Amino acid sequence: MKRFFSSHTLSALLIASIATFSGCEQQTGPVSEKQPETSVESETPAETSNETVSEENSAAIAKKEAAEAALKEGEAIYQKNCQSCHTMSPPAKSAPSIIALAGQYRARYSKKAGAVADMVAFMKEPAVGKSILGSKTFERFGLMPAMSLPDEELEKVAGWLWDQYDPNFEGAGDCE
Ligand code: HEC
Repeated sequence: MKRFFSSHTLSALLIASIATFSGCEQQTGPVSEKQPETSVESETPAETSNETVSEENSAAIAKKEAAEAALKEGEAIYQKNCQSCHTMSPPAKSAPSIIALAGQYRARYSKKAGAVADMVAFMKEPAVGKSILGSKTFERFGLMPAMSLPDEELEKVAGWLWDQYDPNFEGAGDCE
């Protein structure tokens, strides 16, 4: 009886000490916070000649990327708002095709900016007086409805339309 008691006490003590120990360890466990590695920002002195070239390059790349992004956005605006009437190339659906329109604009305008400005003005408030197209177009298709899109989107889609010009596409196409 006495022996059982003592071994019982012993195991109780053992359990208690394990518990205490592990508890202790949890409390006093090393709190090692990872220290952020100090980044060594080395400012390498750029060679002036190289710097100018790379600056020009990166400006050119940025410009190209911006132009590509605007074109993609323009195409997306076309797909969403114009494609239902304007096909890309003949045959026409219910409006002149984009390729034919681009050809008409290129024939009348030497600069993209002027063409874009007039396209935007037309799309906001279509009128025969603002049109670059002949009366045959209106007889065939009627007048285009006004586009209620933000100016920025109208400019992008107009710029995209101008860029769809295909030099191999000759004549008025379905723009008459
Ligand atoms: C509901 C049909 C319809 C939709 C949608 C439409 N158009 Fe048109 N669009 C026409 C028709 C019809 C014409 C030809 C008659 C005219 O010029 O108004 C035309 C003509 C044009 C012209 C020539 C303008 C001129 O000088 O006569 C441009 C540029 C044009 N559309 C661009 C667009 C763009 C860009 C979109 C989308 C943002 C668009 N259209 C959406 C029907 C549509």
